[in-house]
Amino acid sequence: MTKKKKVAVTASSKLLKLYMNRSKKRKRIQKRAKNKITRKNKITRKNKITREKKQLVIAVEGVSPLVEKYWFQRYNLFSKFDDGIRMDEEGWFSVTPEEIAIKHAERCGGGTVIDCFAGVGGNAIQFARMCYHVVAIDVDPRKIELAINNARVYGVEDYIDFVVGDFFQLASSLKGDVAFLSPPWGGPTYSSVSSFTLDLLKPKDGYSIFKAAQKITPNIIMFLPRNVDLDQVEGLSWLSCPPLNFEIEENYVQGRLKGKTAYFGNTAVLPATVS
Ligand SMILES: C[S@@+](CC[C@H](N)C(=O)[O-])C[C@H]1O[C@@H](n2cnc3c(N)ncnc32)[C@H](O)[C@@H]1O
Repeated sequence: MTKKKKVAVTASSKLLKLYMNRSKKRKRIQKRAKNKITRKNKITRKNKITREKKQLVIAVEGVSPLVEKYWFQRYNLFSKFDDGIRMDEEGWFSVTPEEIAIKHAERCGGGTVIDCFAGVGGNAIQFARMCYHVVAIDVDPRKIELAINNARVYGVEDYIDFVVGDFFQLASSLKGDVAFLSPPWGGPTYSSVSSFTLDLLKPKDGYSIFKAAQKITPNIIMFLPRNVDLDQVEGLSWLSCPPLNFEIEENYVQGRLKGKTAYFGNTAVLPATVS
């Protein structure tokens, strides 16, 4: 009798334990699901805030989503960005980063530098800061307007003659010690080709641009995409007789290869090794 009762008690306690365990498990599952939803909500809310913040920045700065990534690099483009630098959409993705523009300027031995495709003034400003006289040409009047503003931010507008005009039409009437060429690379898609050939440069192919610059001086600096065909670039030095001194430089900003610069004539300091 006692034994039977004991069995009955054990069975019911076992059932109770089983029930309790199941209920605990159910609660655990419910809690986990609730946490998951909360976490998901938190992430969604965080993403939304980041998105909203970015949209605010874009609204404030007038930057389109296309140039957003360049906006985040604004201090690499102009260290004095906050002092009143102004850009248009093309200016954002075509301006030479300041660190590279300084390198270009260090290579000019003085005198007059002709910046044949001046854009919003990234290079012209650095040439002027090295106390050279600069002629800054751009076919787009808006770019010259912005370049004047930006040169003023750096306090060098008095060292630069700004010209709205077509470089190809002006080339034969220009005199200078160095011609600097930073022609358009055809927009941000330039990097999608494995080898950037000189015919892809704008508004004319690289040979025509180089020949126009040779009317001014044999001392030419050309800023080119990082994926440029180096054999073709070296070939430009053979357009002169005897061939021009030639050097190629890789240009990095914060460890990232941003472009390559070809130096010709007196601006080249080392014999080039094209690989
Ligand atoms: C790559 S951007 C120059 C960027 C410049 N180095 C800077 O740091 O701001 C090229 C510029 O060439 C100008 N351009 C295009 N065709 C031209 C031409 N035929 N004559 C003069 N400028 C031209 C464009 O308007 C553009 O502003």
